[in-house]
Amino acid sequence: FQPQRLAGRRVVITAGPTFEPIDPVRGITNRSSGKMGYAIARAAAEAGARVDLISGPTALPVPWGVTRTDVETAAQMRAAVLAAVHGANLFVAVAAVADWRPAVPHAEKIKRRTNGPPAIDFTENPDILAEVAALPGGPYCVGFAAETQHLEAHAQAKRRSKNVPLIVGNLGHLTFGKDDNEIVLFDAAGAHPLPAGDKLTLARVLVAEIARRLDASSSA
Ligand code: C5P
Repeated sequence: FQPQRLAGRRVVITAGPTFEPIDPVRGITNRSSGKMGYAIARAAAEAGARVDLISGPTALPVPWGVTRTDVETAAQMRAAVLAAVHGANLFVAVAAVADWRPAVPHAEKIKRRTNGPPAIDFTENPDILAEVAALPGGPYCVGFAAETQHLEAHAQAKRRSKNVPLIVGNLGHLTFGKDDNEIVLFDAAGAHPLPAGDKLTLARVLVAEIARRLDASSSA
């Protein structure tokens, strides 16, 4: 039994990777499985929230009580988030959004050539979390940081540059696809490690931590 810490709250969560097309048959993506984001969506629904999960391509079932919108690209994810986030109390950005996308996807399959591989021009994707954090009257925003080194420095820099109150740091970069994780919360007061565990147990602890901060920020 989970206490209904998010009863009456509306929560928007992004999860999974994005897929950015190169041509109709190829694209670039990353190793995010979506497990952590889906676990947080489930834990938030258990805590009584109305949950919109905006998901990149994953092989995971929709958690019970959660409404899922499927997207592929960062641009589609941004549009779905902006459509869902109006009036939401909380936005948790767990998705591993591609930083860049091929600027102009080819309309037809690129054929193998004798004169070497094609060059691909990349362009930057929108930063969905930073954009939602800048919305006037927007939701309480939580971001994730997966770093291979200097987690605390990078996570705190990310927190400040995106202007969000809380960043969840993944300890180690080997959590992709795994069932276990180890996370540290970074807020204005510093670093708060959580006990290591499976992603659902961690998600429940994280949701309780977020709910506490959300209550404090809404009563401020
Ligand atoms: O800037 P960086 O990608 O390292 O930040 C990671 C955090 O920002 C994650 O919470 C991720 O979901 C979010 N993000 C986003 N849109 C992007 C890039 C990252 O929402 N284009």
